[in-house]
Amino acid sequence: MVRLPFLSSTRAVPEALKVPRHIAIIMDGNGRWARKRLMPRVAGHAKGVDSLRDVIRSCLDRGVEYLTVFAFSSENWRRPKDEVSFLMQLFVKSLKAEIDRIHRNEIRLRVVGDLAPFDDALVSLIRDGEALTAGNSRMNLTICANYGGRWDIMQAVGKMIAASGDAGRTFSEEDLAPHLALSFSPEPDLFIRTGGEQRISNFMLWQLAYSELYFTDKLWPEFGEAALGEAIASYQGRERRFGRTSEQLVSDKPDTASDHA
Ligand code: IPE
Ligand code: IPE
Ligand code: MG
Repeated sequence: MVRLPFLSSTRAVPEALKVPRHIAIIMDGNGRWARKRLMPRVAGHAKGVDSLRDVIRSCLDRGVEYLTVFAFSSENWRRPKDEVSFLMQLFVKSLKAEIDRIHRNEIRLRVVGDLAPFDDALVSLIRDGEALTAGNSRMNLTICANYGGRWDIMQAVGKMIAASGDAGRTFSEEDLAPHLALSFSPEPDLFIRTGGEQRISNFMLWQLAYSELYFTDKLWPEFGEAALGEAIASYQGRERRFGRTSEQLVSDKPDTASDHA
């Protein structure tokens, strides 16, 4: 069995940390932000890059170890062609503009998702950025692009079966987990969705099992340092029970609680 670097929240009780180790964000509301200002939707995407830069900086300052953001979903291909192509160009432009700053700040960049439909030029920019920053360990920035939670589970199942070499056997959570696209990171402590919608939209279906969910009406281009602080403060007020009772939290040390599968 391949061992993961982090505990699974359904197999053992993880430590509830004061500062979330991993923050996952659905950056939503760019189009509405622009429309409110009588600008084309894509102007909101461009502005959204500034919010992301702010949030990365703020996570660095706070000692967050993993930041995972949803940039383009497997369903976003359903959007008008012009918007999709603007988003692709923005990805290229932003990667070119930001990669040195990312590297200087000792951030390791990963892009997770099915990259097959992307232009070769974008894929090589992504691979170059990942290679350049592969040795960094201050923070892990993961951009989910052409990503879907179901895509991930299905690609992982395929790899798991191939790795087993035995079509007849049964599989456990531990067999599947190392093959998921985000197996390098712990499960998110805090999930944030901007833009007012209260749904997951096929983001990190597996990994969000016990994340604290935070929804805000703020549109992504309005989100920044202060708003992130509010989200983290809300997280800090939550009681993370992972299936246990409140009473147990007082008496149990998280890492000593046992699980009976
Ligand atoms: C999120 O903002 C960015 C992407 C999905 C690429 P939207 O573009 O979904 O903005 P709204 O939800 O239409 O306002
Ligand atoms: C989710 O936002 C995907 C990203 C932010 C990349 P959407 O705007 O695509 O989600 P729905 O369509 O409102 O569920
Ligand atoms: Mg949206």
